Parts: sequence; C-alpha cells; structure tokens
Amino acid sequence: MTKRTIITMPGDGIGKAVLKEALRVLDAAGFEAEYIQADMGWEFWCKEGNPLPDRTIELLEQHKIGLFGAITSKPKDKAVAELAPELQGKGYTYYSPIVSMRQHFNLDICMRPCLSYKGNPLNFIRRTAGGGVEEPQIDVMIFRQNTEGLYGGVEWTNPSDQVYNAFMTHKKFVDNFAWCPREELAISTRIFTKKYVTRIVKAAFEYAKNRGFSKITVCEKPNVIRETSGMMLKVAQEMSKSHYPDIRVEDVNIDAMTMWLTKNPENYNVIVAGNMFGDIVSDAFAGLIGGLGFATSAQFNPESGVCVFEPTHGSAPKYAQYETSIVNPIAMISSAVMMLEHIGETVIAEKIKNAVAKVVADGKVRAYDMMKLKGSPDVVNQGAASTAQMADAIIAAL
Ligand code: NAI
Ligand code: MG
Repeated sequence: MTKRTIITMPGDGIGKAVLKEALRVLDAAGFEAEYIQADMGWEFWCKEGNPLPDRTIELLEQHKIGLFGAITSKPKDKAVAELAPELQGKGYTYYSPIVSMRQHFNLDICMRPCLSYKGNPLNFIRRTAGGGVEEPQIDVMIFRQNTEGLYGGVEWTNPSDQVYNAFMTHKKFVDNFAWCPREELAISTRIFTKKYVTRIVKAAFEYAKNRGFSKITVCEKPNVIRETSGMMLKVAQEMSKSHYPDIRVEDVNIDAMTMWLTKNPENYNVIVAGNMFGDIVSDAFAGLIGGLGFATSAQFNPESGVCVFEPTHGSAPKYAQYETSIVNPIAMISSAVMMLEHIGETVIAEKIKNAVAKVVADGKVRAYDMMKLKGSPDVVNQGAASTAQMADAIIAAL
C-alpha cells in the first residue's frame, strides 16, 4: 500500500506540543504515513507578513489532508506592531490564517463531535428523582455550515447610499430602523445559499444513515429568522421525504436547544445548523464532555477533498512557556482519529479511540484539567500527567 501524505501544521503555542503527541500515538497505533510539516501561524506573520504562506496552501492543495494544532491571533493593530522592522509600514494586514484557509479552500462542512468518555470527572451529571446522580452517555455530531451566515463577513458600519437605499426598500427597515442616523447604524448580514445549505444538510443525513440514527435535529430559529433558518429547515424536510424516508427531521430552536442539552443531552445524536448557531451549540455540547481538552473538529470541502482536522482549543500561550507541557492532548488525538475515519482507516481509528477510553476510564493518568486543577507548572507535583505522559498512557493502552 502506498503511504499517505499528511500535511502537519503545528502552528503556535500548545499546538506544537499536542500535535507532536498525536503523531506519536498515530505511529504507535500502526498508521503509516509520510508527514510534511507546513508553516502557519504567528512566527510567519512576524517574519513574512503572512501567517498562511503560499507554500502551505500549495502543500494542502496537492496532498489534501491536514492535521492542524492551533494558532495565535491578535487584533490588527497589535499584529502590525509585532511585524519585523523591515516589513513595517508596507501595508501588511493581519488576517486569521484559519479563516483564510477556510475561505481559500471553501471548507464548508464542519463536523464537531461530542462524545463522553466513561470515567471522565468533567462529564455532565444530573440528579435523579430519588436524589441520586446519573451520567447520560453523550454521543453527538454537530454539522456546522462553515462559510456563510453571520460569519460571512458581509457587513457595514455607516453604509453607503447604495446599501442604505437597498435596505430602505424593506418595510421592516423603514418601520423599525429608518429613525437611526446612518453613521450610527451597524449591519451584519446572514446569507444562506441553497447550494451550501443542501451540502451541510446532506452531510448530516449521510452521517445519520451510516450510524443508524432515525432523526436529525435542525438547530436554527425558523419561526423568527424565516428566510435563512426557514431555508435550512425546508431543505432538510424535503430531503428527508425524497432521499431519507427513514430519518425524520426534528426542529429545535437554538435557544431552546441550549436548555434541552443540559436536561437530556442523550436525546440528540445528529445536529445541523448554520455557522453561528453551529458554533454556539457545539461549544455548549463540548462543555458537557470535558471542554477544551476534549473538543475537536474537522472541516472539509466534499468537491476538492481538502480537509483539515484540529482541536477546538487555541494556542494557550501561557501554557506554551512551561518547561513541561501540561495541556491535555486528547482533543488533538481525537482530531487525528477523525482524520483516520475520514480516510477509511477505521480499524486504527477504533484502536486509538478505545485506548483513550481505557485511559480515561482507568482514571490513573489524568491531565490537570481532568483533575479540576488550576493550570500551573506545579500541577505535575500535584499528580497531574503531563502532555507526554497522557500520550504515553494512551500508547500503552493501544
Ligand atoms: P485557548 O483555547 O488557547 O485557551 C483557553 C484556556 O483553555 C487555556 O488557558 C487553558 O486553561 C484551557 N485549555 C486550552 N486548551 C487546553 C488543553 N488542550 N488542555 C487543557 N486545557 C486547555 O483560548 P484563548 O486563551 O482564548 O486564546 C489563546 C490564543 O489562541 C489567542 O491568540 C486566540 O486567538 C487563539 N485561538 C486559536 C484557535 C485555533 O487555533 N483554532 C481557537 C481559539 C483561540
Ligand atoms: Mg467557538
């Protein structure tokens, strides 16, 4: 079998520490690949004025599969101040390389799994009627449309005549907003297109079909946001009728969802939402399974096949300075598992998943977050496992 080529992008801060451990686990589990490390992140912004150099884009274009750690982002003016002296004043503007990567490759499908491991002290628990405690198993995949909606970037402050006049053709705008001086007006649009709504909804149905689930939940707000949320719900209902008659569509509003998921999270397995609501509902679910040390995601474009797998957390710069890294590598390792599943290496994926589950269930080796300690270099003396020790334990359990 020819070896796969995987583009690794450690990025900044703890991204480097967790990616290194994930690669060790992949190796120990028997996954054979050639890894090409690509440049991305703050260092390349400062040195070259571009946190996502063209050579990295080219590597991804060619090899399609990326494993990404995390990057550091800073506001535009702070970013400019940190540019190398020879690049100062030459018109460089900082853009988040993650957003640039998403836009460049049109990575419109984002999948965010939330799976609770038995024995994780950070798992959601609730009281039973009898006063006891129960811990529901959480197994949810959130499908988030990754390129449109409120994060689409079509927005204005003090809009031009053309834009303002266009809004003035809408009765609701005339009735409710025409009183406002134009320079005090900020407008962010929420644009959905049928093509990409259909793609994210279809991805959710396909996943439900493969896992044998009998419903998908559309998590929007169609009773109020009629046009965009309404489009997603309608597309889902029609697709259920035409292509997935055994999978029903449940309609739950985003606000109600954030209540239901702390009452009965086990009732949900497949959720589909637009960009912002998908972001919100996936963070809310992640909180039930241990938060940033456990939350992971994949983003891909089904046409070009380009896909990038990454933990949800950022570069946590403070923790990156510790001599011994203490952050939890499970989120990054789970991203690698998603990558394996995506490329059909399901046996190795299962092996790693089971090893993580075993380590968590045994409870002998725990990162500081699982011990509910405040992060500091001293946590190792308090019995917390380092990043490398967590990976060692997972490797031993393979
Ligand atoms: P962060 O996710 O880097 O860290 C927040 C806190 O979460 C940390 O202080 C730590 O207590 C905890 N944490 C994070 N990862 C953990 C892990 N693996 N194990 C245990 N605990 C963990 O978010 P923050 O501090 O808001 O941002 C830091 C930098 O990262 C910023 O420059 C931000 O722009 C960037 N960022 C990058 C992201 C990405 O690369 N996808 C996502 C979020 C933030
Ligand atoms: Mg988020």
